[in-house]
Amino acid sequence: MKKRIAVLTGAGVSAESGLGTYRDNGGLWDNYDPMEVASIEGWYRNRKLVLDFYNMQRAKLAEASPNEAHRLIASLENGYAVDVITQNVDNLHERAGSTHVVHLHGEATKVRPENTFNDEDGFSEKYVFDIGYEEVNPGDKGANGVQLRPHIVFFGEAVPKMEQAIGIVEKADIILIVGTSLQVYPAAGLYRYASPEAAIYVIDPADVPLFEPRIRHIRKVATEGMKDFIDILK
Ligand code: OAD
Repeated sequence: MKKRIAVLTGAGVSAESGLGTYRDNGGLWDNYDPMEVASIEGWYRNRKLVLDFYNMQRAKLAEASPNEAHRLIASLENGYAVDVITQNVDNLHERAGSTHVVHLHGEATKVRPENTFNDEDGFSEKYVFDIGYEEVNPGDKGANGVQLRPHIVFFGEAVPKMEQAIGIVEKADIILIVGTSLQVYPAAGLYRYASPEAAIYVIDPADVPLFEPRIRHIRKVATEGMKDFIDILK
């Protein structure tokens, strides 16, 4: 049986594709207040501001391409059973060829009516649809006649895919964490569900708040660190 690798990624894996991270110097949250543009309270306060922010993210994504780190992660599928669990709302893992990608925080290229994908409808993706890189504006409505919103997990909302992600991490032989500051829960706690036998690697040029002695930190950018990781697997 193939060994299982769970790859947990954050904004750092897409940094070399030209998409800014959130918390580095000059990152998105230096220029925008997440509570205004990416929280559920912000959405109800000012939908236009939130829609414009994600229109901008979609436009940037249209110009971006997967980098060597996304491609090397996809290439792991040649020898391993690989699941990518990403906090990223971009589609660069899929465009690089990864076939099992769980988007914990939603997807910038998808929208849904604002009254769907909640406890009431059991988080059914029935009304979620692909909008590609198009804009969404106040007044744009879904099939049920209700205002469309980005298919993003806003601050203040549940993370419906956590259970699926935990199941993947528990079964993995190897956990690889790439480019996340591990500041945002519950995603940041996922690696703690690793089995005691699992090997855990982190690729990040900066310090990361991980304290288990078995964790091996490859202190490099994603494209370089992925090459080291693949050498370690050989
Ligand atoms: P952050 O911006 O918090 O962290 C980015 C991490 O990437 C940091 O640890 C950097 O050191 C690292 N990094 C920077 N350049 C890198 C490179 N070239 N290669 C590898 N690593 C690099 O981003 P996330 O941890 O992904 O949520 O943020 C988590 C969540 O917070 C996001 O999903 C987003 C945000 O608010 C939502 O919007 C719901």
